Amino acid sequence: MDKYVIRGGRALEGKIAVHGAKNSILPILAASLLNCSGEPIRLKKVPHLHDVWAMLEILSKLGARVAHDGPDILLDTANVKCDQVPEALMREMRSSIFLMGPLLGRLGRVRVCYPGGCAIGERPINLHLEGLQALGAAVEERGSYIEARGRLRGAAITLAYPSVGATENLMLAAVTARGETVIRNAAREPEIIDLQNFLIKMGARVTGAGSPVITIKGGRDLHGGQYRTFPDRIVAGTYLLAAAITRGQVTVEEVVPEHLGALIRVLQKTGADLAAGDTVITVAGGRIKAAPRVDVHPYPGFPTDLQPPLVAYLTLADGTSTVIDHVFKNRFHHVQELRKMGARISLQGHQAVITGVSELKGAAVEAADLRAGAALVLAGLAARGETAVAGIKHIERGYEELPRALGLLGAKIERVAAVPGEGVRL
Ligand code: EPZ
Repeated sequence: MDKYVIRGGRALEGKIAVHGAKNSILPILAASLLNCSGEPIRLKKVPHLHDVWAMLEILSKLGARVAHDGPDILLDTANVKCDQVPEALMREMRSSIFLMGPLLGRLGRVRVCYPGGCAIGERPINLHLEGLQALGAAVEERGSYIEARGRLRGAAITLAYPSVGATENLMLAAVTARGETVIRNAAREPEIIDLQNFLIKMGARVTGAGSPVITIKGGRDLHGGQYRTFPDRIVAGTYLLAAAITRGQVTVEEVVPEHLGALIRVLQKTGADLAAGDTVITVAGGRIKAAPRVDVHPYPGFPTDLQPPLVAYLTLADGTSTVIDHVFKNRFHHVQELRKMGARISLQGHQAVITGVSELKGAAVEAADLRAGAALVLAGLAARGETAVAGIKHIERGYEELPRALGLLGAKIERVAAVPGEGVRL
């Protein structure tokens, strides 16, 4: 199993730019299915991420033409006729569930397999299916498959929970529906604003993203165009925490500081110095103070995707911190691995109580999911000695060339290919 090998104890220093947001690009790729015009879509500066290539592979299998032009992706979805998302790819990437909306809206039918659970918990899709039914779709669950069909018409929908994926799925379905759709208790994440901006560029009439009420006036034909997403706020936050946990000084560039307000406040409360410009944030780490309580909530609350890296950071705080994840209740697989490095963390339900220690020691650890992997890398950067992080395929779903990026900041981290036969437990 390939791994990252990290020699810890070096303070990160320097500047680093942040690539485009994975969680914007994925729904925007799904939205490209709404363009039947034959005029291509150009997505600019798309990062090289496993999840992005998996989504492009799905679009290709559905009939889209995908081309690469340097860092840009060109998409022509005029000939999409296939209404079934390939099962293997669907299982590989649960977030492909938000292909349902555009495929149903465009073709009048769609068949997907249940995305299934993952390391961060069961990933129910009830809010997606209930919303599609509200838009007039007949939804049938057949074993591990779901079929939806019908012509969509605008509706008033109130989400029981501000689900990011359900909000995106229903926005895309509503663009093709006859009439007006209003989504209430919608997710307010910046990625929703990114998706709205993209849809407007393609000729759709969407307003309200970033607020709890999104209005879509459906029934217009969409066209091509070009678009560049926001920078990835979770990658940016990971870099900021990497600088803080190593007590270094780092400037992240090409970011939107307001997207990171909750993290900036926690970093300031725990002893880091931060300065923000229009598109940059500089952090200078120092002795880490404990955070008595951090509650993880939907945006603009503290983001669940930065909860694992934050827990890693707080393992070295003076005192006891408590982190409660109200979004994914058992997103704590990083805890058992951090304990192997000397961290003192107790799990009580969906909260982690972290008793700070003076140092972490390098160890062999394994990532169970994307952001748990990021947490282990950060711990390795701060630990004494060498840390080997396995399971890096998870990390590479959402961080483009992480070893290279951290190496530019002075980290000693390299990607090591597995030795044949290594890791075979006899
Ligand atoms: C998106 O996942 C992100 N993924 C996740 O990022 C992120 O952690 C999550 O939003 C929360 O911000 C993408 O954008 C591709 P949700 P999503 O629907 O849409 C419950 C990463 O690391 N729920 O907002 O799946 C669900 O169980 C990934 O980049 C229902 O109950 O998140 C969870 O408790 C991980 N029924 C909560 O809502 C539903 O129908 C949040 O889920 C849907 C969700």
